[in-house]
Amino acid sequence: MARDSADSRSSTLADVRSVYADQAATFDRFAALNRLLSGRYRRRAFDTADGEVLDVACGLATNRAYLPESVAYTGIDASPAMLDRAADRHDDLVLGEDLREMDAQDLDFPDDSFDTVISSLSTCTFPDPDAALAEMARVCKPEGRVLLLEHGRSSVGPIAKFQDWRADAHFEKHACRWTQEPLAIVRRSPLTVRNHWTALFGILTGMEAVPE
Ligand SMILES: C[S@@+](CC[C@H](N)C(=O)[O-])C[C@H]1O[C@@H](n2cnc3c(N)ncnc32)[C@H](O)[C@@H]1O
Repeated sequence: MARDSADSRSSTLADVRSVYADQAATFDRFAALNRLLSGRYRRRAFDTADGEVLDVACGLATNRAYLPESVAYTGIDASPAMLDRAADRHDDLVLGEDLREMDAQDLDFPDDSFDTVISSLSTCTFPDPDAALAEMARVCKPEGRVLLLEHGRSSVGPIAKFQDWRADAHFEKHACRWTQEPLAIVRRSPLTVRNHWTALFGILTGMEAVPE
């Protein structure tokens, strides 16, 4: 993987697929712990989603449990390994239909397709986060919303220092820029942030945005 400054390391889609082919079993094994730690934040970020919902970089489709039951769910991810495990975990989601292999940076949906576009903990892994956010804006209906839950550098000094210290190693293992500033990235995209909140020592940022 290419090495640049701390927050601008870049990977390729092939890197992402390779990392998550290795990591899918670990994500699966620790799914319950993940829900325990992140569930309340996922609910806060996504429980107002409605209508046709697209989950971009859905991973194991963990977010589905935190959406209202009334929504129609579609998840896309670049990693076949993650999608296989998502399908195993959700009997009613059909691989290739409700769960589709796709690049977030080049979504295979027409403009204005979804009432709500959601994404969690993934902007940091997109090789080109600007392209992915522009695609989320494009496929969201003009009156729809984009709901994001992202992580970044903590606002608490010692935690941020630890993140800085481990940033390279973390990127090598997870293809994840964990010190990047999510709000800044979304603000330079074709989305307008209406509301945002932070949690977990400033590591998590929830955002409600609308297409410009
Ligand atoms: C840290 S996981 C998060 C998964 C899930 N959103 C969650 O909150 O549990 C990051 C996910 O982003 C996916 N990903 C990274 N780059 C992608 C891209 N360009 N297109 C689609 N998925 C991508 C990975 O395959 C992986 O499943």
